[in-house]
Amino acid sequence: MRDMKHDERSRIAFALNGRLVSGDAEPRMLLTDFLRNVVGATGTHVGCEHGVCGCCTVLIDGIAVRGCLTLAVQAEGRAVTTVESLAAADGTLNTLQRAFQEHHALQCGFCTPGILMSFTDYLARNPHPTEDEIRDVLSGHLCRCTGYAGIVAAVLAASRGGAAGSTK
Ligand code: FES
Ligand code: FES
Repeated sequence: MRDMKHDERSRIAFALNGRLVSGDAEPRMLLTDFLRNVVGATGTHVGCEHGVCGCCTVLIDGIAVRGCLTLAVQAEGRAVTTVESLAAADGTLNTLQRAFQEHHALQCGFCTPGILMSFTDYLARNPHPTEDEIRDVLSGHLCRCTGYAGIVAAVLAASRGGAAGSTK
């Protein structure tokens, strides 16, 4: 028998990359599904959908969270930041993104949005991480292509190149 409560939709609104967005969400709808399917922000990727791979990582009020472990309704009234926020409006990449490009830190790119968002949060709190600290953050992400060495090099380069904090 269907549980009617699970079918009830509610209107939610939050700031997405500084712009107010709104839409209808069932109570159990994941934030990733709301971002991708309701408001069309497809930069956030979905892999395992149970908190393991990290590719769905977004920021809520500046803190990195798994979009696949967050209900859309939990974003109500909050500030959500996704990979779409990183480059300038004209497409110019930010320092961290440029470092990824220069150090071959991605191949297929599927894991990249989540990793970029994790380090956007992390570098704001620890602007000059060690390699071990970078690898510790990366332990929350799966990348099937790069072997991680390029990602470590990119984050180190971004943090040494004045990217600390803003990563802009
Ligand atoms: S899709 Fe969220 S952790 Fe894998
Ligand atoms: S670049 Fe392909 S999974 Fe990381």
